[in-house]
Amino acid sequence: MKRIGVLTSGGDAPGMNAAVRAVVRYGIYHDMEVYGIKRGYEGLIDGDFERLYRRSVGDILQRGGTVLKTARSKQFITEEGMAKAAANLKELKIEDLVVIGGNGSLTGAKILSEKHGINVMGIPGTIDNDLAYTDYCIGFDTAINTVLDAITRIRDTSSSHERTSIIEVMGRNCGDIALYAGITGGAECVLLPEIDSDLDAVYKKVAEGIGSGKLHNIIIKAEGVGVETDALIKMLRERTERDVKLVVLSYLQRGGSPSFRDRMLATQCGMRAIELINRGVDNRAIGERDGQIIDLDIGEALEARRAVDLDLYKGVDILSM
Ligand code: F6P
Repeated sequence: MKRIGVLTSGGDAPGMNAAVRAVVRYGIYHDMEVYGIKRGYEGLIDGDFERLYRRSVGDILQRGGTVLKTARSKQFITEEGMAKAAANLKELKIEDLVVIGGNGSLTGAKILSEKHGINVMGIPGTIDNDLAYTDYCIGFDTAINTVLDAITRIRDTSSSHERTSIIEVMGRNCGDIALYAGITGGAECVLLPEIDSDLDAVYKKVAEGIGSGKLHNIIIKAEGVGVETDALIKMLRERTERDVKLVVLSYLQRGGSPSFRDRMLATQCGMRAIELINRGVDNRAIGERDGQIIDLDIGEALEARRAVDLDLYKGVDILSM
């Protein structure tokens, strides 16, 4: 009987549990023994493995977070750490490992396959949506909905008080949360890590809004933007003579019950990972493109680069005029 492992790694994302459930139950259906590895690569190094059964993943589909727990492992990127992880897998005769995580986690999986011959399947799980080979990552949709809910609430009070609000969202290198929530939440401006911020343009947009009778101005700033938020607030307060409030959404964005889209993507990715292992296909990254579930070589997947959607970026400005 084939033995496989599954782990979640990096920042947690709503829908990771749905992916774990699909891997476990579809794997068992295909006569595999499935082992859950705790705390991502940390548990792989520590030998923290647990055999999972159908009932082990009961009642988790609708839960945010990850029942396998997660970590950002510094040890795993050392030669010794990775060798220990591979040795633990080999000792248990686990040849295939499903890794659910973001860019760093899937890169770790790729190196593990190259250096130690473990067959890896990468499933994209990160609210940042920073894996370019896939249109969407598990958790992104739920996080956007959380941000939209916050924007709606903040807009109410901003209008009542005629204030400008800066909402800081997650995204260190990838501004997708800011961009997608900005355009669907009706923000006046979005500040993205991929595009140099023009503070003068932000001032002009806010001032024009006030001049045209807008009661509020919403600016969505991704956390990775290299602009001092205090300086931005000070500049806007001084130049527009309107009060400016800052709301940092932080970890609120990482929790919550996964949306339909995230459960679906997670479930389909988990099923595809098992199908590929069952067919003896090695080292793939799974994702979604143009509404279809896809898989491609994990190395090729990690080389993919995606430019910011400039139509959406301009759209934020045009639609909030
Ligand atoms: O998972 C990605 C992310 O949410 C980033 O947007 C954020 O900067 C980071 O995780 C925070 O990570 P940690 O949980 O390690 O503080």
